[in-house]
Amino acid sequence: MGRSVVVIGTQWGDEGKGALVDLLAERANAVVRFQGGHNAGHTLVIDGEKTVLHLIPSGILREDVNCLIGNGVVVSLNALVHEIDELAQKGVPVEERLRLSPSCPLILSSHVALDNARESLRGSDAIGTTGRGIGPAYEDKVARRALKISDLLIPDLLKNKLEVLLDFHNFLLKKYYKQHTVEFDKEYTNLLGFADRIKPLIGDVTQILYETKKQDGGILFEGAQGALLDIDLGTYPFVTSSNTTIGAASTGTGIGAMQIDYVLGIVKAYTTRVGAGPFPTELFDRAGRHLAEMGSEFGATTGRPRRCGWLDVVSLKRSVIVNSLTGLAVTKLDVLDGLEEIMICTGYRLDDQLLDNPPVLMERYGDCEPVYETLPGWDIPTAGITSYSDLPKQAQHYLNRLEELLDVPVDIVSTGPERDAIIMRRNPFDF
Ligand code: GDP
Ligand code: IMO
Ligand code: MG
Repeated sequence: MGRSVVVIGTQWGDEGKGALVDLLAERANAVVRFQGGHNAGHTLVIDGEKTVLHLIPSGILREDVNCLIGNGVVVSLNALVHEIDELAQKGVPVEERLRLSPSCPLILSSHVALDNARESLRGSDAIGTTGRGIGPAYEDKVARRALKISDLLIPDLLKNKLEVLLDFHNFLLKKYYKQHTVEFDKEYTNLLGFADRIKPLIGDVTQILYETKKQDGGILFEGAQGALLDIDLGTYPFVTSSNTTIGAASTGTGIGAMQIDYVLGIVKAYTTRVGAGPFPTELFDRAGRHLAEMGSEFGATTGRPRRCGWLDVVSLKRSVIVNSLTGLAVTKLDVLDGLEEIMICTGYRLDDQLLDNPPVLMERYGDCEPVYETLPGWDIPTAGITSYSDLPKQAQHYLNRLEELLDVPVDIVSTGPERDAIIMRRNPFDF
């Protein structure tokens, strides 16, 4: 049996998952997305050329790798087709190698309208969503009224389901949110217009994965967002609307949990967050500006500046537990180059208590003050280094300390956005 490796973000997203998936795809036969939608923005840089993927798995730039979209992903057909066309323009053929589950729920324009209407109504309490309609699309799935990719195969069914759903959405938009409604004819024509292109892409993702594994092929499961944005286990309500943690790799593809051999947690060497919500180690000083500037911390999907702060071991420890992480990939180590001191948050102070785990009540997350351990920085650049022993001693010390605190091995270190700026200590496909 081939190996299955799951790549999970351990923070609030943008840890560098896409770059790692692209790298590891060298050893994979299939890469599969299992949750989220085009709220994700995964950046790959190869020979100086940047590609940002939102829905299409980050194995697409590797010629022989099949790219799959599992049933757990919510799909905007407009976004999907746009991305396929953009890649084709760059000379990357997609359709031959892309298959999507017929069970993926569709994101409609009314989901986008509802997402935005809700955000404006929340005013200063807004979540800061990506405005892609993700939340409302998942709500409809759970409410058992979602349109699915498979509905494109039966136009009459599509029409009936769309009529009922738009009726409901338009009622909400008009009466509750006082917003413009979405026209049925326009939406129906738009969806039907995609049918001929989408039909050949529909496949039995579960079976494809099962067969791949049976024939000794490697599989990479590509997580989107991060563990702290998980709908159940994250910093609710400032989360996304899907499960971003390990269980979703199974439920979002139809592959049993026991088929997973290795879970790689991607840890950015510091912390970032886009959108609102608690962030105990957030910085507003020079160090924060260093991280934002050196790390080019702007959202890959919305272009919003990302909030930056020190590494937070308290929340990372929770990510290790909830995902059963086998190993870590520490990314963007080079962004810490040139800092005199580097801090790691090892505890939270809440009222007069010292916590080494997140507060039991999520509502108290925002009241937690970080307790730091200070480590020396380094002035020899790590950017582009590919061997652990070539790293400055202080950088090695930082990584060793992280391993010690989290009790998980750092198997990979990334020292630049390029594919080859990598220190591979243990390849997840090797053991
Ligand atoms: P993802 O959503 O987890 O795939 O991450 P994003 O692509 O949204 O954000 C990560 C950003 O950091 C991208 O611009 C990457 O090109 C860049 N990146 C990834 N790894 C490294 C690294 O080791 N060093 C530096 N400097 N940049 C990196
Ligand atoms: P990748 O895969 C960072 C955040 C949004 C917002 C919250 C809810 O690139 O790591 P949503 O539109 O999902 O309802 O927004 O989640 N968010 C992300 N933040 N990286 C992402 O994806 C994100 N996807 C959603 O900013 O705070
Ligand atoms: Mg991203």
